[in-house]
Amino acid sequence: MSFSTRILCIGAGHVGGPTMAVIADRCPHVRVTVTDINKQRIDAWNSNDLPIYEPGLDEVVKRARGRNLFFSTDVAAGIREADIVFVSVNTPTKAFGEGAGRAADLQYWEKTAREILAHSDRGKIVVEKSTLPVRTAAAMARILNSNGRGIRFQVLSNPEFLAEGTAMRDLEQPDRVLIGSEETPEGIAARRAVADLYATWVPRERVIESNVWSAELSKLTANAFLAQRLSSINAMSALCERTEADIDEVAYAIGTDSRIGPKFLKASVGFGGSCFKKDILNLVYIAQSYGLREVAEYWEAVVRMNEWQQARFVRTMLANMFNTVAGKRIAVLGFAFKADTGDTRESPAMTVTRALIAERARVVITDPKALANARVDLQDVGDAVEFDADPYRAAQGAHAIAVTTEWAVYKTLDYKRIYDAMEKPAFVFDGRNILDHRALFEIGFNVFPIGKTPLKHV
Ligand code: UDX
Ligand code: ADP
Repeated sequence: MSFSTRILCIGAGHVGGPTMAVIADRCPHVRVTVTDINKQRIDAWNSNDLPIYEPGLDEVVKRARGRNLFFSTDVAAGIREADIVFVSVNTPTKAFGEGAGRAADLQYWEKTAREILAHSDRGKIVVEKSTLPVRTAAAMARILNSNGRGIRFQVLSNPEFLAEGTAMRDLEQPDRVLIGSEETPEGIAARRAVADLYATWVPRERVIESNVWSAELSKLTANAFLAQRLSSINAMSALCERTEADIDEVAYAIGTDSRIGPKFLKASVGFGGSCFKKDILNLVYIAQSYGLREVAEYWEAVVRMNEWQQARFVRTMLANMFNTVAGKRIAVLGFAFKADTGDTRESPAMTVTRALIAERARVVITDPKALANARVDLQDVGDAVEFDADPYRAAQGAHAIAVTTEWAVYKTLDYKRIYDAMEKPAFVFDGRNILDHRALFEIGFNVFPIGKTPLKHV
């Protein structure tokens, strides 16, 4: 079959894999190849056991794979053939040197740009999918276009707004697709080409075009605003616990104001995930580097509040378990940073687990999808932690259970059976407010929700 366009995606992770699967599924006239340096990852994409868990992803990959969707480790061949190259390699927070702990580590991105250059014998459209600091596209364009061979590249920013767990819906019915380019005739033509691709399945009015810096900054701004809502509601949850107000009632009441809206107001043990903290720190770094100290401090507080909320959750556990958890078995329900994903990056469960281990608790972790990642994340702690896929076994003999991920299955466990198998007094710390607190209290548990008055027998 002949294809009208050839797309390459470099980086077969949580962003690149699902995004390319949907493009291939919706655009049978386009040939899509996804490459990665990690052979194990590519092998998994070519198997029946995909490397990431995302509801609905399996079906889409099965429909398109081998037809117009291909996974390969041959980055060079992929670059040679491609008209459009999406780049979705990792951009972690820098762990060294200038900007360590805040700035984005651009080494993978720059390496990729140099690879594109090395294997290109004609101009291409290069699309930033990874979240990157503002002005990265311009820097990349300079690297790519200083090739001395007269080959011209257009670097676009097409930030990803998908959230894990709902990635397929976010990709298939996005609120918007944002494409930024240089505002030259060539830049605008390039962004039109990518806009046309999305318009195959996304209503045209939802495809927004802008200059490249606006697109880059919009991504950071969207994540900063979302995280800010969470830190705001979590700050209020602490106040609710002191004042007998109920955070879910407050969230409902404010969410009916159409200017505020009801989404993203669920108080919790804190937000996690690979994006929020990283993107805000990135924003903070950029603001600092432009001398905007007040702007930097304002956004930094969103991250500080999140760290405080996680620490507060553990302090509540300790304070109510007679100021010691040493030697006590504690079941941590959920290790993924949110439900419906196996991803554990920046998971609040990790902070909670490590704090409990520091207090010498015996922690048992259970999770429906994230145990493999949890084992890797906690390999340094040795015997201080156990893993069990069965929540009933995890809770057996425990003094407390802590709900750290809002998995639906945890709402319908047989809590009477769990209570009977636990040490007494038995405690539940519901870090996601998903359980029926009154029912648990009536079974005999001491119940500590987020932002609500605890229900205590002791
Ligand atoms: C986020 C953005 O939503 C997405 O648009 C962006 O492109 C990538 O970053 P993601 O991190 O995958 O997506 O998940 P998200 O649904 O935003 O949840 C982030 C964290 O906030 C999770 O730990 C989640 O449990 C928590 N959360 C979310 C709450 O605690 N309460 C809420 O009401 C919503
Ligand atoms: P994200 O959540 O942003 O998609 P991931 O870490 O899940 O991030 O995926 C990024 C992928 O990019 C990883 O699979 C990594 O191996 C891959 N990668 C990093 N550098 C390169 C490179 N130079 N060429 C190809 N793939 C790369």
